Amino acid sequence: MKDKVPKYSREIVYTAPDGSFEIVKTLWPPGSVSAIHNHGKSQGIVMVRKGELVESVYNVQSSEYRYSVKRCAGQVFQEDCTRVHKVENLGTEEAEVIYAYFPPLREEDMQTFPEAMFNSNRKATIHP
Ligand SMILES: [Fe+2]
Repeated sequence: MKDKVPKYSREIVYTAPDGSFEIVKTLWPPGSVSAIHNHGKSQGIVMVRKGELVESVYNVQSSEYRYSVKRCAGQVFQEDCTRVHKVENLGTEEAEVIYAYFPPLREEDMQTFPEAMFNSNRKATIHP
């Protein structure tokens, strides 16, 4: 029997009364991975609170995998709405990540992309 890939969990912990932004907490068990996706109409500010993740970035227009970067506890980075990426926990500890999305992220505005769409020349992970 094939091992199941662990799922990450996502909880909206705050939505601004005027609906302009939301705060989302995610937990990433070891081995969990997102789909390759964009962020619809939302800009995101991201903070890794615990553990570490690897973010892999893709270019949809040229169907290219671009690079991977390690995101460690305490790091803050930006996810703009045109960024296409995949996030995975390759470590042995659970990772906790807090996102602020402006406006709130809506699944119906997001797109996911199959891994097979991109060339697979995996480059070494960049350490920031
Ligand atoms: Fe994302």
